[in-house]
Amino acid sequence: MNMNIETPWVEKYRPKDFDEIVSQSIAINNLKKFVQKKYDMPHMIFSGPAGTGKTTTALIIANKLLKGDIYYRNVLELNASDTVRMDFVRKELQDFVNQNLIISDRELKIVILDEADNIPKTVQQTLRRIIESSPNNVKFILMCNYINQIIDPIISRCAVFRFVTLPKDKIINRLKFIVEQEQLSLPEGKKKEFFETLFFISGGDLRKAINSLQMAVALELIEDLNINEILKISGFVERPVLNQLKRYLETKEFAKARDIFDSIDYLDSRNFIRQLLNFLPEFKNVNKNNASQLRAYFGDVDYRISQGADERVQLTALLAELISYQDTTT
Ligand SMILES: Nc1ncnc2c1ncn2[C@@H]1O[C@H](COP(=O)(O)OP(=O)(O)O)[C@@H](O)[C@H]1O
Ligand SMILES: [Mg+2]
Repeated sequence: MNMNIETPWVEKYRPKDFDEIVSQSIAINNLKKFVQKKYDMPHMIFSGPAGTGKTTTALIIANKLLKGDIYYRNVLELNASDTVRMDFVRKELQDFVNQNLIISDRELKIVILDEADNIPKTVQQTLRRIIESSPNNVKFILMCNYINQIIDPIISRCAVFRFVTLPKDKIINRLKFIVEQEQLSLPEGKKKEFFETLFFISGGDLRKAINSLQMAVALELIEDLNINEILKISGFVERPVLNQLKRYLETKEFAKARDIFDSIDYLDSRNFIRQLLNFLPEFKNVNKNNASQLRAYFGDVDYRISQGADERVQLTALLAELISYQDTTT
């Protein structure tokens, strides 16, 4: 039995030092120099997609600068999206920053503020004033997915580091490292497909990739590497269903394609779009000249759904569009 309710592997394998961080060498190399400056370290913004190492890097910096007990006293971790009442953040921040006037004079303090791009613009103005008026020993590390959601006056006060989506080989190597550490044995013949599937599920997010791996192990899916089950538990459609759908789209049988689509349980529409898009090269009759237009249509549908459009309507339209691109004449 492998049903382990142990520490999440994302935590267990969270890098403890800079050189353990995969990719991100540009950001990390520059950042190392700043960290050595201690009190002259600038405020920083880490921007980039989820699961690329932003929080990990902030924690490493904090650990390097504040060792031992002092860490707990002098590091404040806040998450903007957890904290519904931003008043609370404001108060907590101000207390933390000011407290410094009372306790010791010049100990370094670090504020780690996650998901800063979720903070409303008006509150960001307040944050900006707090940053401005903070004494030199208080350093802010802000994290965000989208730098354009942060107001300019904050950006201009920070050194910005961009974290990039991890490439396939880096993700797969990290997963292999964990597999080795955990002494898991995978069936040789299916290994490659397994890692490729985990990478596909992750979309470049290493946290997601590691979580999917741990879940596959916990659900005992790795003995015979049941790829379809792994896709399913991660919110993707199984291959046989996808294949069936493709057949009906190729024969332009819209009603049947829609039936298949309607029969999918727990459809995650944006995952479904990614999966279909990935599957596109396998459609025999998609006219090569039109393929880029079709891809653009996928992008539009994905965007509309992200903006709250009705998912079923959008996806049904996408299926119809796919049929219209099935070109058997050219
Ligand atoms: N660049 C990376 N190198 C090594 N592990 C990483 C990297 N990025 C993410 N991880 C893994 O994913 C988990 C989540 O990473 P985190 O730093 O919290 O991502 P985020 O960019 O969303 O803040 C980490 O605990 C670690 O296991
Ligand atoms: Mg994070």
